[in-house]
Amino acid sequence: MVLMLEPDRRADTDDALGSWSRVANAKENRGCMVEHELAPWVQWHGRLMVVAWVILLPLGVLIARFFKVTPHQQWPATLDNKFWWHCHRALQYTGIVTMTAAAGLAIAHADIARSPMPIHGLLGFAVLGLGWLQLVSGWLRGTKGGPQGGPGGSATAVVRGDHYDMTRHRLVFEYTHKLGGYAVLLLATVDVALGLRVAHALAWITGLIGATWLGGAALFAWLQWKGLCLDTYQAIWGPGLEHPGNRIPPVGWGIRRVSESPPAASAGPDANAARQGKR
Ligand code: HEM
Ligand code: HEM
Repeated sequence: MVLMLEPDRRADTDDALGSWSRVANAKENRGCMVEHELAPWVQWHGRLMVVAWVILLPLGVLIARFFKVTPHQQWPATLDNKFWWHCHRALQYTGIVTMTAAAGLAIAHADIARSPMPIHGLLGFAVLGLGWLQLVSGWLRGTKGGPQGGPGGSATAVVRGDHYDMTRHRLVFEYTHKLGGYAVLLLATVDVALGLRVAHALAWITGLIGATWLGGAALFAWLQWKGLCLDTYQAIWGPGLEHPGNRIPPVGWGIRRVSESPPAASAGPDANAARQGKR
C-alpha cells in the first residue's frame, strides 16, 4: 500500500508510530508531498481486516438473513434448505480466522501507548472480543429437534429440541446472536474507517471500500424490500400452526412470516393477527 504524507505530519507520524512507519523508498515529490510505503505488517493487517470485515463477515450475515430459501426453491414444498447454513458458517469461520491473523500482526508490531490514534486499537480489541463471542454464541445455540421421518415410512415422530420448541435457551441465543452480530459489524465498520485514516490510505482505496459499503447497504435494503427475509423457523419447518414456534412472534425486525389459512381463521381480527404472525 502506498501512502502520501504531508511533510509537516511526517516527523510526528514516524516518531509516534515507531516500527510500522519506517519510511521505505521515501522520495521528495515536487517539494510538497512525500511518497512512502507502509511496513509489510501494516499492509497485511489492513488487507486482511478489509477481507474479513468488509467482505466475508458482512456477506455471511446477508446470506443468513435473505437466503434461507433460495431463488429456485419450491418453498414450502421443499423445506430446510441448508445453503444459508453452510455459507454462514464457512464465511463466519473464515472471517474470524482472518481477523485473528490480522490482529496478531498488529499486536506483535504495534504499541497502543505510542499510537497516534489509540481509539483504533482499543475499538479493534473490542471487535476482536465480540467477533469471537459471536462464534461462541453460535456454538451454544442448543439443539435443533423437529419432525423426523418415523419408522413406518410416511409416519413422522417429533423430536424435541431448543429450536423446534423455541425454548428460552433458543430465544436467548437469537436475541444475543442477532444483536451482537449487527453491533460488532457496526463497530468494525467504524474501526476500518479509523484504520484507513491512521494509515493515511490512498483516496482510491478508501473510495473503493466506501463504495463497497454503500453497495452492500443498498443490496441489504433491496433484499429487505423484496420481502426475502423469511423467518428461519418457517424456512425450516414451514408455516403450519402445529409447529410450536409458529405460535409465537419471530425474534428481530422486518422478518416475513407466511401464514397458513386454516378454514376457521379466514375472517376477523384474530385471523388477521394470526396471519401476521402476532400471536
Ligand atoms: C475492523 C478492522 C480492524 C481491526 C479490528 C483492527 C485492530 C487493530 C489492533 C488491535 C491494533 C493494535 C493496537 C496495538 O496493539 O497497539 C491495530 C493497529 C493498527 N491498525 Fe488496525 N484494525 C482494523 C483495520 C485496520 C485497517 C483497515 C487499517 C489500514 C491499513 C489498519 C491500520 C492499523 C495501523 C496503521 C495500526 C498501528 C497503529 C495503531 O496502533 O494505531 N487497521 N489495529
Ligand atoms: C460458529 C459460528 C456461527 C454459527 C454456528 C452461527 C449461527 C447462526 C444462526 C443459527 C443464525 C440464524 C438465527 C436465526 O435466524 O434464527 C445466525 C444468524 C446471524 N449470525 Fe451467525 N453464526 C456464527 C457466527 C457468526 C458471526 C462470527 C457473526 C458476526 C458477524 C454472526 C452474525 C450473525 C447475524 C447478524 C445473524 C442474523 C441475520 C439475520 O438478520 O437474520 N454469526 N447465525
